[in-house]
Parts: sequence; structure tokens; C-alpha cells
Amino acid sequence: MVLAEDLDELRRSALAALEAVGSERELEEWRVRYLARRGELARAMSRLGELPAEERRAAGQAANRAKDELQQAYEGAAESLRRRAAGADHQVDVTLPGVPPVTGGLHLTRQALYESVRIFAHMGFTVFETNEVETDELNFGLLNIPPDHPARDMWDTLYIDDELLLRTHTSPGQIRAMRAYCPEPLRVILPGKCHRYEAVSARAESMFYQIEGLAVGHGITLASLKGVFEAYAQQMFGPERRIRFRGSYFPFTEPSVEIDITCHCMGRGCALCKGTGWLEISGGGMVHPVVLENGGYDPSDVTGFAFGMGIERTIMPRHGIDDIRYFYGNDLRFLRQFA
Ligand code: PHE
Repeated sequence: MVLAEDLDELRRSALAALEAVGSERELEEWRVRYLARRGELARAMSRLGELPAEERRAAGQAANRAKDELQQAYEGAAESLRRRAAGADHQVDVTLPGVPPVTGGLHLTRQALYESVRIFAHMGFTVFETNEVETDELNFGLLNIPPDHPARDMWDTLYIDDELLLRTHTSPGQIRAMRAYCPEPLRVILPGKCHRYEAVSARAESMFYQIEGLAVGHGITLASLKGVFEAYAQQMFGPERRIRFRGSYFPFTEPSVEIDITCHCMGRGCALCKGTGWLEISGGGMVHPVVLENGGYDPSDVTGFAFGMGIERTIMPRHGIDDIRYFYGNDLRFLRQFA
């Protein structure tokens, strides 16, 4: 039974070798070595004839069993290689912690815009959205700033061609809103992007957001503006805040004011307010009669107030942001703090 023992040994070592097979190429080598026509199994079987007749039958059966077993093992290994290649026996480990989905968040500016819209809406203001690309006529001319007016220097302008420009402020929306509402009274805010041809610095960006406010009707005075703005400032920045008006100049308002809000230091004086206790947050005034007329209203019948504030500069002190360039620099380390 030497041959039967050899066959058994061959079967075991072949199966062990198959365990170590990890690729199609190794499997083919294994097949050639053990199962092929000139392989080890075939060679062992060719010795069956040397056996005495009474042993030959049992040894032959053992040889056939070994051959079947190796053939099956070969097919199994080939199948599992195919499966592995197709990723079919990739297992899911249900105990692994999940991967949280990446969620977005509203940009700091957007949050402040929404909050401002909400506050003004409670005071009866409607959002009126207008063009970002404007005509020279609306951005300047109809706002009482004719072509040679020195006040044009207040707005460094990005022109698209002789007639079109990127609006330098939301004030041209005043004309559009008045023309849309006239002769009805109106109370609107106009939030939007503005562009200026600026040297970018910690204080100035070439693109920023403004919120314009405009009310036209009977009995509107500078005191109305003061009341509205103080209510806004207190809801936006805290009930302890006060505002003050300082005389100023804009071609489209008369009289014109700068609106200041008390600083976070509550008048003690800090670096932000340069020791004054006040922060400038908006321009404003009574709508100039010429502008009312350009909007279609009769200045002897109605009056109006208007204001325009830069959103970024308004919220910078609130979060201790000391450089306006952070807003649109797309640095996630900055943005995520407010998401
Ligand atoms: N449009 C002015 C600016 O951008 C601000 C302003 C708006 C002033 C409305 C008065 C009235 O500087």
C-alpha cells in the first residue's frame, strides 16, 4: 500500500499548497503542478499498473477520490478568486462607527441678512430685490449725481461699458422700488451685493453686502428713521444699544446723516471705537425731493427716509472679526465657526 500512502500524502500537500494560492497566476501554477496531464497526480496514477492485481483496485479507487477532491478544491479556489475580484465577499462591519454626512451651513453674511430681514419685516418692511448690474443713470444720475458731480468720487466704480456698471451701493434700488410702488406709500428694504473698485484691505473689500431701507409716505420725518433704526439696532445687537445721528452729506438725501451705534464697550472706550464709545454703521437721511420726483412721487405731497448700511462691517464687531477679507476668502476654518 505504499502507493496509497503516497497518494494520501500527495493529496494533503496539494490541498495545503492550494491554501496559499492568492492569485490567478498562482492557481494556474498549482493546477499544472498537481492536476495537469503531466502533473504529480497523473504521475502517481501511472504507477498503478505496477501494483499486484489484488491491490490495484483499492488503490485505483483511492486515486480517483483524490483526483475528484483536488479537482473540486481547484474549482472552489478559482470561484473564490473570481468573487474576491468582483468584491462579492466583501463584508460589512456593522460595528464600525458611522461616517457623519457633511452638512453645509449658512454663511455668516447670509445669517445676518436673514436676521435683519426678519427684524425689519416685523416693522412692516418688505424685501425688494433689484439689479446688481445697473445703469450709470440709476446708480448715479437719478440719485441726483450728474456725470460731473464731485460726489462721484465717493464711489470708485467698476464699469462694464459706457452705460453699465456694477452697482456701488443699493441706493439705485430706491428708484426702482419707488417706480414700482408709486403712488402708493412704501416701506421696503433692499439687501444685495455691491461692488467697488477698491484697494482691498482689512477695512475694505471690492464686493460686500448692503441693506438699504426706504420709506415713502405722509408724515415721515427724520424721527421716523431714528425710531426704526434704533429698534433694529436693539434687536440686532442688544436692548442696551443707543444710536445717534451726525450731520453728513449724500447727494440723494437732504438732510443727510451718519448713524452711529454705541460700542460694545458701552462708552468706556476701546480699540474698536478708538475710545469714542460709538461705531458708525450706516448712512441715511430724508429722501431728496429730486429723487422722490425721479421715483414718480410729488415731493410737495410725500416725504421719505432712506438708509444704507454695509452688513459685513456691521457684524464684524459683534464677532470680534478684525479683517473684512475673511468673509469671502473661503477659508473653512473661518466659515465653520459660524455655520
Ligand atoms: N448709498 C450710501 C452709500 O453707499 C448710503 C446711503 C443710503 C446714504 C441711503 C443715505 C441714504 O454710501
